[in-house]
Formats: sequence, C-alpha cells, structure tokens
Amino acid sequence: MKREQWGSRAGFILAAVGSAIGLGNIWRFPYMAYENGGGAFFIPYLFAMLTAGIPFMILEFSMGQKHRGSAPKTISQIHSKFEWLGWFQVGVAAVIGVYYVAVIGWAISYFGLSFTQGWGTETNTFFFSNYLGLGENTPTNLGGIRWNIALTVALAWGITYIAVVNGVKSGIERASKIMMPILFIMVLVLIGRMSMLPGALDGINYMFKPDFSKIWDVKVWAAAYGQIFFTLSIGFAIMLAYSSYLPEKSDITNNAFMTVLINCGFSILAGIMIFSVLGYMAQEQGKALTDVVSSGVGLAFVTLPEAINLLPAPYIFGPLMFFALVVAGLSSHISIMEAVTSAIIDKTKWRRNKAASIVIGTSFIVSMAFVTDGGILLLDLVDHFANNIGIMTGCFVEIVMMTWLFKVSDIRKYANAKSDFSIGVWFDICLRFITPVILATILTTKLHTLLTEGYGGYDLTVGWVIIIALFVVGILINLNSRSQEV
Ligand code: ALA
Repeated sequence: MKREQWGSRAGFILAAVGSAIGLGNIWRFPYMAYENGGGAFFIPYLFAMLTAGIPFMILEFSMGQKHRGSAPKTISQIHSKFEWLGWFQVGVAAVIGVYYVAVIGWAISYFGLSFTQGWGTETNTFFFSNYLGLGENTPTNLGGIRWNIALTVALAWGITYIAVVNGVKSGIERASKIMMPILFIMVLVLIGRMSMLPGALDGINYMFKPDFSKIWDVKVWAAAYGQIFFTLSIGFAIMLAYSSYLPEKSDITNNAFMTVLINCGFSILAGIMIFSVLGYMAQEQGKALTDVVSSGVGLAFVTLPEAINLLPAPYIFGPLMFFALVVAGLSSHISIMEAVTSAIIDKTKWRRNKAASIVIGTSFIVSMAFVTDGGILLLDLVDHFANNIGIMTGCFVEIVMMTWLFKVSDIRKYANAKSDFSIGVWFDICLRFITPVILATILTTKLHTLLTEGYGGYDLTVGWVIIIALFVVGILINLNSRSQEV
C-alpha cells in the first residue's frame, strides 16, 4: 500500500503548526511564564527552544521522512530492539488524547455560555461546582458522568474522527487549512482590541517583568523544557507520524524552523492577549495583578470568564476567545489521534477507516472517565505524569538512541541534503550533550520529587500504573515482533 502524502508544503506546515499550537499555548504558557519568573522565564524557554526544540524537530522530521513510518515503525527500522520506544510514545499520545479532549469539551460549553455570560458572576463556584460537579471526589472516587459535558466532548471526538478518517490530505490537511487561518485572524483581532484596554499595558509589563532570582531554580528549567516538548508535539509520536507523510523531495530544516518559530511566537502573542485582559480586570476591580492571576485550568475557565464579564461587548470577545481555544485544541487533538491511528495502520495493515474507528471509538469510551464529577482531579494527575514522566522519558531515550547509538551526523547530512539551508555542528552538540544532560537532570529531579513529596496530595497509584503499563505493553509488542522476525 502506497503511503499517503501531504498535498503541498503549505499544507504540511499548517498541519504541523496546528498540532503544535494548542491548549498548551493558550492556557499553559502564559501562566507558566508568569509563575516561573516572568520575563526571566524567557531565558530558559528560548534556550530550550534553541537547544532542544529546533534540533529535536529537525531530528524527528528527518527520521519520519526517511523511514516513512509512524513512531514504532520508524524507530524499529532504525533498530528493531527499540520498537518498544515507539509504542511507549504512542501510548503517551493516547493517554494525552483522552484527557485533552475533555478540556476541549469544556471550551465548547464555555463558547456556548459566553454569548450571554451564562457563567454568572461567581465564576469559580460556577466552574467547579455547577459545571464540573466537583464535590468530595478524588481521582479514584470519580462519581457519575456529567452528561452535558459528555455531549460537548462527543462533539469534539466527532470532529477529530472526521479529520482522521478522511486521511492525510483530504482530512487533516483540509481541516488545518480551514482552522489555522481562522485561529490567526481571531487571535490578531483579540490582541488588537485587548491591548488597547485601560490597564492592559500593566498586565503585559507584569508578564514580562523579569525575576532573575528564579533563573537558578531547576524547577524553572524543568518547566521550560517540559513546555517546549509538549507545545511542539515532539517526543510523543506526533511529529514522526506527520513527517512520515512528507514527499521524498521535501525540505526538512526550514520546515522545522518555521514550525517552531510560528508556534513559540504564537505563545508569546497568546501571553500578551491574556495578560492584557488580566491587567484590565485588575484595574477595573481595583486589585493588584497578583490577586487576579490563577493557574492552568483556572486561568481559562475561572479568571477569563470573570474578565469577559467586564469587557466592552463581551458577547463578541467572549465567544472569540473560547472559539480560539476550541480551534487550537481541536487541531492538536487531531494530530494526537493521528499519531495513534497511523501506528495501528502500520502495524496491522488495517484500512484507515477501521483503524480510526477502533482507535477513536475506544478512546471516546475511556475519555468518559474525565467527564465525571471528579474528572478534573484525574485529569490533573494523569496530565502531570504524562508530561513530566511520559514525554520526558520518551524524549530522553529517543535522543540517547539517536545520538549515541546511531550517528547524529548522518541525520545532519540527511537533513542538509534535503533542505533549503544547512545546519552546522551545533546540531550535534545540542542533541548529543546539552539536551540529554538537561533531560536527565530534570527527569531525576521529577522522579525524586514524585517519590518523596508526591503530587497535589493525590494517591499516585493511577499515574504509576499508567507509566508502567505503557512500558510493559511496548516491550511485549517489541518481543512479539522480534520473535516473528526469526
Ligand atoms: N502541542 C499541543 C499543545 O500545545 C499538544 O497543546
């Protein structure tokens, strides 16, 4: 069976950028920058982008394009003993896919509510109690399914399914060509208006004001590297799958640079937009900015609605903000599910129709765990493990395998032979030395913190079980493939 291909270079870039720009840019990045030293966070962030983000993107684009396979297929072609790593990464993507969609479901509901600010004035109580139904739950005592949320989550799954089942060119590429221009226009309109609001500049200053004391903290560096891998969709099977559909004669390096720079530029724009709104809100309410900022989910679903209540023409800007979140989330979710589907197609040789239906049907059922009263707690826990242990481990092993066991300069030569411009020996240095050392440090610190301090006061069994299960399943599939070879 001939492998599917992207229809055009622009189509590929839009799909790769669509994958990269997601919920991570809009609700994770602004708060992360603020919490980890404001302007000073940009030093580790840009360092991570240059030493890990760009070289890793070039590495994955080269591997995928050269071996024309999803993560397990590509990695097993490089060395059959490492197929498990591909499955581990696909597993991480599948885990992320089932909770990520819940946040898109919330964003769809909030898009609906935003026309009339149906969340009322007590946005915190509304989100956690009225909407999510969170009570005395824990990640292991989830309560019942919230059917109103299940409905919007089903809608998100439906859209992802349509894009994935229709294939690379007529599904994913077409969806990206529609979604990405809409997203860019919406965000530009929003920034244009929000940055003109009174108090907006104070908000922006607040985000960029550097706190250099944080720069020596390993946690800040861990946050920067973690954010780079998540936001660029690298190290968890996605960019390998996307680049496996590149035609033979495609540029690698320039495409990688463009994807990374557009994504990181977008994050900064999203930060400016969010902090303009926060600055305005602080001024309207006569509060200090520190008192209006909240973290992660709270920022998008508690603080933003509260700020929208105060905006001029909230029925226009509220829907625009939530629609932007929905579009950004969906284009990434499509790529996450494509990473899983393409691995199944490569392994089983099933038709896309069958593979997509089974993968997305099963994931839909699993995702219902996150649509329960306590779903947000499970989401928080699983997200922490998927990001800090799952993605980081996948990246670390991939980088060591590709740069120490196999010659990184071969990859550089491969990329240079294909590309508009050439990369130098800095590529080898970043991938062979800088990034693995930093990743190893971060991983050890994270594991140590999890084992000694835990996370969020939760019982962490579910998190550990998921990570161990991903390893075991990967190794079993790997052993099975090798026994069939001999
Ligand atoms: N790269 C995607 C995001 O940032 C997964 O949300």
